[in-house]
Amino acid sequence: MQGNTRVGPTALYTAQAWRAGSFENAEHFDHRLGRLMYTAGDMVQKYLGPVLPTYMKDFHRYLFIRHRAFEERLDATVPDMVIEVAAGLSPRGLTYARRWARTRYLELDLPNMVAAKRKRLQSLRLPPNYHLAETDILARDFIERLPLKPTPDQTLMVITEGLMDYLNMAEKQRAWENIVALMKMAAPDSRYLMECWPRQRVLPASPAGRLGVKGVSMLVGRRVDENLHENRKEAEAALRQAGFATVSRPDLVSPLRDAGLDPHACPFVLFECGV
Ligand SMILES: C[S@@+](CC[C@H](N)C(=O)[O-])C[C@H]1O[C@@H](n2cnc3c(N)ncnc32)[C@H](O)[C@@H]1O
Repeated sequence: MQGNTRVGPTALYTAQAWRAGSFENAEHFDHRLGRLMYTAGDMVQKYLGPVLPTYMKDFHRYLFIRHRAFEERLDATVPDMVIEVAAGLSPRGLTYARRWARTRYLELDLPNMVAAKRKRLQSLRLPPNYHLAETDILARDFIERLPLKPTPDQTLMVITEGLMDYLNMAEKQRAWENIVALMKMAAPDSRYLMECWPRQRVLPASPAGRLGVKGVSMLVGRRVDENLHENRKEAEAALRQAGFATVSRPDLVSPLRDAGLDPHACPFVLFECGV
């Protein structure tokens, strides 16, 4: 199993979203292709609104909530170490490493994306607790290749935002097994945070919704609809099968309501797992 580098452009898109959503430090990760794709997304939401399912009409606002939800869980736990897999061009690592001098923040991604990120970081003064490295979450030697590893007295937060639903079922299991093994090296109250886009929410009876998923599938070179868990129960069972002992769902309803968004239309659920 090997990581799919064609997922890269989706990170350019979300980098632009974090910029549009005014996330701290997001201005450093501007990318021309990302800007173009994001503007096209804005136009689709604006002009095709009436024929789109609710989550696509407000797609960018749901993305902002997703990013904030991960940050709220980080703020609530303040771990000693964060390992963010598939960090893309997210500004979060830089922001939190600057904010929390005592937390080591390691961002990981495939080599093409790490190279793109390094370019954008080279003119910045990076805090000593910020680290960026190449990885492939599917690799058998994922842990051995990490430049930093947690110790049993350190609390760890592992994050995968916007990754898991680009992986097929066997790849998800492999990735989670790697994460479980990593978390077992850290303090017992360490956590893993991810979001899941269940098929029942993403593929409603709307031709526009199906077209959107087809477009993403073409971009990443594989059928994304076949990667999706049917519902959250199925995803939860798969997480337990991979070795997570606890699986809970942090509250998304309040932030969605506060933002004036319909919680029932939200296309993803958030999972927080322990080992
Ligand atoms: C949608 S982007 C998400 C980026 C970032 N987390 C965000 O929310 O802006 C998906 C990221 O997954 C990365 N990726 C895909 N397959 C991977 C793998 N096997 N191992 C590590 N990263 C991977 C891609 O390179 C890309 O940066």
